[in-house]
This record gives sequence, C-alpha cells and structure tokens, in this order.
Amino acid sequence: MVDVNTRLVGLLGYPLGHSLSPLMQNKAFELTGLNCLYLPIEAENKDYSELLSGMKKMNFIGFNVTIPGKIEIIQHLDVIHPLAKKIGSVNTVLIEKGRMTGYNTDGEGFASSLMIETGCVVSDTSFMILGAGGACRAIAMTLADKNAKRIVIANRTFIKAKELCDEINNVIRDCCTPVELTTDALAQHMNQIDVLVNTTSIGLHPRVEDMPIDGALLTKNLLVADIVYNPIRTRLLREAENKGCLTLSGLGMFINQGAEAFKIWTGIEAPVKEMRDIVGQFLHNKQNKI
Ligand code: ATR
Repeated sequence: MVDVNTRLVGLLGYPLGHSLSPLMQNKAFELTGLNCLYLPIEAENKDYSELLSGMKKMNFIGFNVTIPGKIEIIQHLDVIHPLAKKIGSVNTVLIEKGRMTGYNTDGEGFASSLMIETGCVVSDTSFMILGAGGACRAIAMTLADKNAKRIVIANRTFIKAKELCDEINNVIRDCCTPVELTTDALAQHMNQIDVLVNTTSIGLHPRVEDMPIDGALLTKNLLVADIVYNPIRTRLLREAENKGCLTLSGLGMFINQGAEAFKIWTGIEAPVKEMRDIVGQFLHNKQNKI
C-alpha cells in the first residue's frame, strides 16, 4: 500500500506510453516486499533542474532516464560511475542524502543476459556489432571493459563506426575495428566472429520483416543476439535459428538492465525470473492481439 513511508523511483523521458519498466519494477518491489513505487514522469523538456530539485525534496531514492535525456542528465549529477562516463550516457541514478550518482546499466544488462542465458565468456569471445548509435556505444564499451577478444563495429554510416572504434581503442582498450555495413565487407570478418549483435532499429515493430544483414552471412557456429524485444523473436533471430545458431533476444538485456538498476537503488538482488515472466507474458499477449 502506498503511504507516507513509500519510497519513490522515477522514470524520466518522453514519450513513456510504451515503457514496460513500470510493470517490471513495480512487480519486483511487490515481490521483494519493499515499500517502493516506480513512477513514470513524462518530461518533454530536457531541462531537468526543477524536476530534480523537486525529487530531492520528496521521497525519491533514484530514477531511470530514457530517451531523450540520457546525455543531458549528466550535467545535473554529483558523481558519475567511470564506465558511464566513458559511455557518455546515464540510464540509472541513485539519490542518497541529496547526492545524485549516475550509472549506465544498458551494456551490463546485455553482458549479464549473454553470460547468464548462453554461458558465453566475454573475454574468450569475438563480437560483431551492427549499428553505432547509443545502444551500440553502451554495449561495445562494456564488452571492451570486460576484455572482449575483438569487437568489429559495422554501421551504415561508416564514419560513426570509425569514430566509436577510435574512441573505445583510446579510452578502454585497443580491441575495435570499424567496417562498412555491406555484405562483402561483413563476409571478410564473419569467420572470425563468435557473437553477432544487432543494435540497429531494424526489425523493430512495425517493420518486423526487415533484416539488418543478408541472411546468407549467418552460419551455424554463430551466436546471434538482437537488442530489439518487440517482437521478441525478430526475423534476424528466426533466420539464425533456422540455420542452427544459438540466439538471444533483446528481452534479456531489457530485464537485466532493470535488474542492475533495482540493485543500485535497493541494495538487494532483483527477482530476475519473475521480472522476465511478467514482461514476457505482457509482450506475448500484446503480440497475439496484433
Ligand atoms: P540507439 O540509441 O537505439 O542505438 P540511434 O542512436 O538512433 O539509436 O542508432 C540507431 C542505429 O541504427 C544507427 O547505427 C543507425 O545507422 P546510421 O548511423 O547510419 O544512421 C542504424 N540504423 C537505423 N536504421 C537503419 C537502416 N534502415 N539501415 C541500416 N542501419 C540503420
């Protein structure tokens, strides 16, 4: 029951109508018996100063930040976790006695999901990441930080892949190579890759039949991951499964970034399985209605 002792956790961003974080985090609070409430706060204006001073005066223990505020929020924080600083964006903030500390749990969410669901050991693994936007940045920086063997970044706009690789090679470790997002260029790297990760928006609802690469590049030794989770099984994952590849949907990354955030706010482990069940069930019901 919400009462005067209820601690609040916000979600700042715009628009928030489709976010599944309130469903997932409120379930986690309920299951762990914590008197906490996860509250979406739509903030179209990215000037968060008034909102944040209000939160400090209320019972907020932290918040998530999503599009369009993940970069803008940084200037308002007192402390930024070193990896979040390198990634250059924050999705989770902890408020302690008015001090705000920023974290980025997106890359960690992907890495945890990969390790838990497939047993993959990042330091023994070579990756190819499709895309060079914000999601790729968080994932590639985190994998480099976890000693990934090699990371190839392929993007439609090559210069963005090149700039991101240069940055990771400078600020983390020399492990990244940029490539053009063409079938010929990708084919040259494919036999040295263990895990392929799609971080582009290709395949996302409603364009569910789009593929980020030519399906002929998929071979059965590859583990194929997508960060898209609506639909849960993208065409890329379905084609990879048909070739005999192990696959990983974006649902795991979403759940695990939320589980990492839950731990930052509460200090306790999140009920990951139940969080996955409730979000999986919601998506399943929704897709059956389409
Ligand atoms: P996010 O924060 O989710 O990563 P983003 O920063 O907008 O989103 O990045 C989207 C990525 O998807 C980019 O790498 C983009 O490629 P460009 O840098 O060339 O724009 C990629 N992307 C989106 N639509 C694409 C398409 N139709 N074909 C190829 N790549 C696409």
